[in-house]
Amino acid sequence: TSASLVLDPAFRVAPVNRRIFGSFVEHMGRCVYTGIYEPGHATADEDGFRKDVLELTRELGVSLVRYPGGNFVSGYRWEDGVGPREARPRRLDLAWHSVETNQFGLAEFDRWCGKAGVEPMMALNLGTRGVQEALDLQEYANHAGGTALSDLRVQHGAESPYGIKLWCLGNEMDGPWQIGHKTAAEYGRLAAETARAMRMVENDLELVACGSSSRAMPTFGSWERDVLRECYEFVDHISAHAYYNDEEGDTVSFLASAVDMDRFIDAVVATADHVAAELKTDKKITISFDEWNVWYGERSRRTDGPGDAWEVAPRRIEDEYNVTDAVVVGNLLISLLRHSDRVGVACIAQLANVIAPIMTEPDGSAWRQTTFHPFAITSGLAAGQVLRIELESPSIRTAKYGEVPSVDAVATYDEESGKLAVFLVNRSIDGPVDITIDTSRTPVTEVLDALGIHDDDRDAVNTAQHPDRVTPTKNDSVRLDGGKVTVTLPATSWTALSLA
Ligand code: AHR
Repeated sequence: TSASLVLDPAFRVAPVNRRIFGSFVEHMGRCVYTGIYEPGHATADEDGFRKDVLELTRELGVSLVRYPGGNFVSGYRWEDGVGPREARPRRLDLAWHSVETNQFGLAEFDRWCGKAGVEPMMALNLGTRGVQEALDLQEYANHAGGTALSDLRVQHGAESPYGIKLWCLGNEMDGPWQIGHKTAAEYGRLAAETARAMRMVENDLELVACGSSSRAMPTFGSWERDVLRECYEFVDHISAHAYYNDEEGDTVSFLASAVDMDRFIDAVVATADHVAAELKTDKKITISFDEWNVWYGERSRRTDGPGDAWEVAPRRIEDEYNVTDAVVVGNLLISLLRHSDRVGVACIAQLANVIAPIMTEPDGSAWRQTTFHPFAITSGLAAGQVLRIELESPSIRTAKYGEVPSVDAVATYDEESGKLAVFLVNRSIDGPVDITIDTSRTPVTEVLDALGIHDDDRDAVNTAQHPDRVTPTKNDSVRLDGGKVTVTLPATSWTALSLA
């Protein structure tokens, strides 16, 4: 079976947006405690941050981190997490049925972001709280000084403001599971009022309104429309969340999850543009895909059920990812890159331990899940402009999405370095596809690298005992001859080509 792809550097979607390589740290399970933060760990630095996790975060190529939730934020009091650690209260965290010690808060997050080299993205509690508390946090975090809350920050040891510019106006407010869940009209108004007031303090903020928790939500489409009708002029982005799995045993559809993401993005863009038309505005809203990943319910490894216990940092949804999951993650990144013109931010959820590319053991090692690799390679290679491509591919029949191309791809071209990167997946479980890539319109003459994720055992995983069971492997089939690159994509595989 064969496929073909034509590339032309003149056909551009948009510049590669580094913010697409974001991640997410929530006060949930062991993402913060014994994930990124573990004073007393052999690798802990003077702030209690695990250096092994910091190193892996940098290797992953994460550009931005959303914090502190997630469902957690909808019951969170930010004041609990600032000031002297010994005075911080322990609280019930209703979202994850745990006890929050507040030993990690805003100051720690700011320092950790500095060390990890990532941009902070801060979520506000619009579940149990509202405009005033959002303004208080903004004043504490961003105002230089000379007011009660900015002076309190200085007193807490932070002379310079944190300067957080990107804020989420709540989290998943469309979900009945959310603390303080609202109707679209209620939430849209609260988002508008919060955004309006925050902009009176600082005009250069970027604000994200909550969109849908998934494309399957009963309110999907109308939620975005109704929320944006209330707050369009005050916000920059609308969020989208999506998690995929093959729990029903339908691996064929699971491998085509990026088709769902494509349709999700297209539908939200259409809805936002519809509201723009109604409002007769030329302003364009972009998508903040600030939670996306593979997430299993049943197959979640080492998950403590909530039971009656209220524990500190219990194990929650510590999914163990296999080769198929890594191929899907690579494909979801292809979808996000392809939509670089309308996706302003994206965050793989989450960063450590909780459905995460990085795993740790308390007092033990840290390792890369299978899904770490396509993320790190894509973040490392994507540069310059995202290119619109012409792809011919055999198709596969899926129960969930109908007939879809078995190959999916995206390319980026960096004029400055002359480097071309091509990211490809073969979503078929049946057999390989030989693809011919026409590069004759590009200046490339050399294959620098051809790395992929593929394994004869699609269920193979990385564990503390075997952390490198699944790593990227060289694809030796790649050839470049007379303006054509040929490469064989094995069944269920993800591949990245670096050409120059
Ligand atoms: O990432 C885990 C959870 O998934 C988040 O807290 C929530 O926003 C979503 O439902």
